Amino acid sequence: MFSWLNKKDQEDLQDDFKLDPNNIPAHVAIIMDGNGRWAQRRHLPRVAGHKQGMDTVKIITQAASDLGIKVLTLYAFSTENWKRPADEVNYLMKLPVDFFDTFVPDLIKHNVRVNVMGYTDQLPAKTQKAVADAIEDTKDCDGMVLNFALNYGSRAEITTAVQEIAQAVKTGEMEPSEVTDETISQHLMTASLGQYRDPDVVIRTSGEERISNFLLWQIAYSEFVFMAPHWPDFTPGLLQQAIYEYQHRKRRFGGLSK
Ligand code: IPE
Ligand code: IPE
Ligand code: MG
Repeated sequence: MFSWLNKKDQEDLQDDFKLDPNNIPAHVAIIMDGNGRWAQRRHLPRVAGHKQGMDTVKIITQAASDLGIKVLTLYAFSTENWKRPADEVNYLMKLPVDFFDTFVPDLIKHNVRVNVMGYTDQLPAKTQKAVADAIEDTKDCDGMVLNFALNYGSRAEITTAVQEIAQAVKTGEMEPSEVTDETISQHLMTASLGQYRDPDVVIRTSGEERISNFLLWQIAYSEFVFMAPHWPDFTPGLLQQAIYEYQHRKRRFGGLSK
């Protein structure tokens, strides 16, 4: 099963949490939280946590791909994170450049396609270029989709969708009564993920138990797993544990258990 993850990281996986290979969640979304606190605990500047967090992203990408996850969505920067000090924001904007510079060859080798959702036109030019290049360079990969939410906010996403749909009604392309769940899903930034557009499980690290404007529409029936470790301390074993937890939930979608 594990062909990409290196030996040392594989050792983190635990026999106690044996996964059912037939019930791996197709779409796993992670709110990667706690980088700042991780650094502060070590008396380091907050950005040291973001740097370490980037290494965690690489390891978790490998583990997710090896596990057979189809879409791994990672919340990297929210539309509200611009409120942070300029130095921190600038650092966060440079991270994708570093990340893709060093990691795209591995992604291609392991057939991972990069997707980015968010208001990327508001990002600095260098960040936009790094993102666009990574998408272009991996466009023919048909393994896991590594989907970054970058300058993403769910309320903004829904607002944009409503504007587009209202415009289509105004121009007579559709009637108000023709607007369905499906119409709305198709106007969201997850539309290109097709059958995998809604996460099966959402994981949040760092002990916070809130959504922070992430995929509000798409999580209608997602399972939630909140975990205490800060993102830089997240490991393949913890991902395995979260999926194990998911596999022991009963999803009913409003119906009755089988
Ligand atoms: C998550 O870590 C990364 C981003 C939001 C960019 P934080 O930076 O939010 O870390 P804490 O929550 O302050 O510890
Ligand atoms: C959510 O974390 C955004 C990301 C992980 C990118 P925040 O740290 O921004 O969320 P709040 O402010 O604690 O709700
Ligand atoms: Mg945070």
